[in-house]
Order: sequence, then C-alpha cells, then structure tokens
Amino acid sequence: MRMYDIILKKRNGGRLSDEEIRFFVQGYTKGEIPDYQASALMMAIYFNGMTSGETASLTTAMATSGDMLDLSGISGIKVDKHSTGGVGDKTSLALGPMVAACGVPVAKMSGRGLGHTGGTIDKLESFPGFNTSLTVDKFIENVNRVGIAIMGQTADLAPADKKLYALRDVTATVDNMSLIASSIMSKKLAAGADAIVLDVKTGSGAFMKTEEDARALAAEMVEIGRRAGRNTIAVISDMDQPLGYAVGNALEVKEAIETLKGNGPEDFTRLCLTLGSCMLLAGEKARTREEAEEKLKAVIRDGSALKKLAGFVEAQGGDGRAVYDTSLLPAASFTLPVKASEDGYVQRMACDEIGVCSLILGGGRETKESAVDLSVGIVLQKKAGDRVSRGDTLALIHANDSQKAQEASKRCLSAFVIGKEIPGKRPLIRTVLGA
Ligand code: URA
Repeated sequence: MRMYDIILKKRNGGRLSDEEIRFFVQGYTKGEIPDYQASALMMAIYFNGMTSGETASLTTAMATSGDMLDLSGISGIKVDKHSTGGVGDKTSLALGPMVAACGVPVAKMSGRGLGHTGGTIDKLESFPGFNTSLTVDKFIENVNRVGIAIMGQTADLAPADKKLYALRDVTATVDNMSLIASSIMSKKLAAGADAIVLDVKTGSGAFMKTEEDARALAAEMVEIGRRAGRNTIAVISDMDQPLGYAVGNALEVKEAIETLKGNGPEDFTRLCLTLGSCMLLAGEKARTREEAEEKLKAVIRDGSALKKLAGFVEAQGGDGRAVYDTSLLPAASFTLPVKASEDGYVQRMACDEIGVCSLILGGGRETKESAVDLSVGIVLQKKAGDRVSRGDTLALIHANDSQKAQEASKRCLSAFVIGKEIPGKRPLIRTVLGA
C-alpha cells in the first residue's frame, strides 16, 4: 500500500477502505508517514468529506493507536461525559458529584487544555492539595470507594489524534465535521466508558456557531458511538453567552458548589439536570427522564451531592473543608466593576470576548507552558434579556493586576450589546439525540 495512492483516491472523491485508513493512522503515528502527506490527506478529506463508515474507521484506528483504558475493575455501568467546550463551562464540577451521588460511577480523565480558563483539572486544583496525577490503579480504587475520581490524562490515549490535531491546527483543516467527530470520539472510546453523554455547544462562544452544524456534529458522534457499541447520547445546548455567571477557575468552583447547595444559576442548574438525567438513564439508575431528574434534585436537596464533592476532593488529597467554607479557595486581590454606559436591555453578549477577558486576567493558557492564575476571572451581574440602567454594574472583574483589570474591563464592556427592545429568549437546551 502507498500513501500516495490513498491521497490520490481521496483527492478524486473516492471512499477509503478500512485497511487504507488503518495504514495511514498507524504509519503516521509511528512517524513513517511524513507531515506533508498527512496534511495533503487532511485537506483532501476537508474538501471531499468522508462517509459515516470511513469516519467510524478513522475513529477506531485513532482510538486504538495507544492505550485503551480498561475500566472493568469498576462495578456498574461507567458513563463518561464530554463537552465541546465553552465559556464558564464548569459542568463536570457539579454534574460529577450529582451523578455519583445517584449511584452512577464517574471515572473521568480530563485535560488542562488551552483556552479562556483552565480545564476541569485546573479548576479542581483550586482545592488546596488536590492531586490530579493518580495512577490508573488508584483512580479505579477511588471510583470504587468514593464513586467518583477525575484525573489528568496520564495514559497514552489516542496518540494518533494528538499528532493529527496538532497538524490540523496549523493546516486550516480543523473545522471539518468528520475530522472533529472522529477526534473527539477516539479519545472517548480509548477512555473506556460503557456509555458517553456529549454536550455539543452552539452559539457565539462555541466551535459550532449554528445549530445546524451542532446537530450535524452531534449526529456524527452518536453514529460513531453506536457503531463502536457504546451507548451515546448528545445534548445540544446554547453557548451564546457564558454558562452561569462565573468565568474563571476558582470562581467557577464556587458557582458549582452553590449549585450543589441548590442556589445555582438557573441555566447551569438546568443543564446539569438535563445531562445528569441522560447519564442516569445510560447508567440504568432511572427508567424515565422525569424519575432521573427527581433523583438528581433529591441529592441536591438532601446535601448528598455536596457531601460527595467533599469526599471526592478529600480522596484526592484536597482540602474538603473548602466545599463548606469557600474562603479557603484562591481569591483575587481586588474587584473592578464594569458599568453600563446606557439604558436598555442586554440584547446579547460576545461570548468569546468574555472568555478573552479571563485570558487577559491570567485565568487561561495561551501556550501549553503558561501558568494559570486560579483566582482571577469575571462574574457577570447581567445576562441577555436583563434590564439595565446607565451606571449599573454589568460584571465584576476579579484581578491581581490593575493594568490587566483595566484592559479586561474595556473588553468586557464592549462585549455587552445593549439596545432598547426586549430581546427574544434563546432556549438553553435545543435537542437531545440518541436517547
Ligand atoms: N476538539 C477535539 O478534541 N478535536 C477536534 O478536532 C476539535 C475539537
């Protein structure tokens, strides 16, 4: 088999066989196929697309290019959750303990990631002493003992995707539906869960700006999961403004804790209940969506979800007292209010720009090596649809550096679009596929 022939076939609109896709993925992972040939194939796929069958083959080849995590030592149906990412997306921090408190084992490998804030792993490190570098054996032991463990990715999961994603990033071939779907699902399949719940975001703060694209991506991923024999459900949710009010690592941890106490923002709580009920159904801990939601609300009401978070934090070496006393979490040295300059209603906000404010303050990573300031971020005081008067506080900037705070404040103000009309409401949950 020759890589040249594979490129030529796809360039001419042909359908690649399983063997051809495996040949490419294995050869590229081993360094036997050069970047220039892999780039040419990615571009040919970008323009000519792939069938569902080809996408499934690419996913399997990438998933099996490294370690496949064996979670069979954990009893029960393991359900993983993945979000395509957005601003203020702290879902795993609240959802994990909620679902675990309902009896679904949560065994999650998470990334640090580049972006506006750190990833789940960074956010968890807001708990003093929290250890995210567990061995796989300790990880499995914790899930069996506590019901939940979240660790940084240490196993060599889907190395083919790691290499290909880096290549796509610099060759303008990221935004192809089949390539995104196979990239995400290869990592999920390698991570070993029996069922997968996907939160596919749509809107100005998401990868998929339109609902149509989000649906297509969700459908593609559900199909990949089905072909791989993993029960896969996708929820399409709105990301046209930040989720909840807090954006920034420790600030998001505080909001997740408030949510587990029953005082969370309406949109964030609704998303946790929707994703959580999908996870309970997949984990066979409820028979209907209504029963699942009732169980999730009950573990918030009786405090067991909050207790689960504290137990989880302590089992990983963190200070569980911070769950009950959030003054033990990192805090910025000052806050700066962002004031409205006109009367009206918040029409919308440039969601990505709010994320950039967090980045400016030091809350995210611009390169893999950057350090994250866990204490900084933005807490919105107004969201789309809210009435504002000139001088009202739109957001509070939490900062440690006055120059960065000024820059973030200007950017935050211009992210708010204020107008005279009452804007239409964008529904948070658009649809659920594969349930
Ligand atoms: N996230 C991924 O993991 N892969 C992609 O291709 C895009 C987003």
